[in-house]
Amino acid sequence: MDGNGRWAKARGLPRSAGHRAGAEAARKAVRAAGEAGVECLTLYAFSSENWRRPAAEISDLTGLLRFYVQKELDSLHKEGIRLKILGDHKAFESDVARLVDDAVARTAGNDRMTVAIALNYGARGELVQATRRLAGEVARGTLEPDQIDEERIEAALDTHGLPPLDLLIRTSGEQRLSNFLLWQAAYAELLFVDTLWPDFDGEAMRAALSEYARRERRYGGL
Ligand code: IPE
Ligand code: MG
Repeated sequence: MDGNGRWAKARGLPRSAGHRAGAEAARKAVRAAGEAGVECLTLYAFSSENWRRPAAEISDLTGLLRFYVQKELDSLHKEGIRLKILGDHKAFESDVARLVDDAVARTAGNDRMTVAIALNYGARGELVQATRRLAGEVARGTLEPDQIDEERIEAALDTHGLPPLDLLIRTSGEQRLSNFLLWQAAYAELLFVDTLWPDFDGEAMRAALSEYARRERRYGGL
């Protein structure tokens, strides 16, 4: 979800206004994806590198997360949406971390759609954690090195239990993955759009899904 700051700047508004508009766009994206039958939508809300931003902006983003979870939880739950978190959200202020934990617990039984929010997430860090987990099992003697295969690695990632990543959308004209779902993106279709995230509405989501439907996926085959 990139481009909040540029969206605000173009309007002479503070960056925080861009983030607020971005949260609104996230709400619309979830709804549009759900209506289109998307099984799982992951939103990259805060990367493990975003801690490099000024404290005031981190505080704005944390506040927005708090507000979003509180305000949206009821409707997400009513719509049968299961919330999942990628990354280590415990690094946020304890009340936010607790709020997120409660939201995950409350929606755990829902099965219409999964919304995964990547919070303090970075793909390299995720792979480091997964490697440590597997190495720990080997050290304890419960896993042989030869037993480590793609499935075991996948099971040790934050995304375990989620369907394969089919489509990765990056907004705001940037064309890089920025440490997002690196393992999972191996065969994902990539879509780079110029739209700034706050302008990414239901129509934009539907257009992205139609574009995906036109792609021919061969997975290395013919
Ligand atoms: C993305 O928008 C929001 C998120 C992290 C946290 P940016 O804040 O990166 O917006 P630009 O890139 O400055 O336009
Ligand atoms: Mg950016």
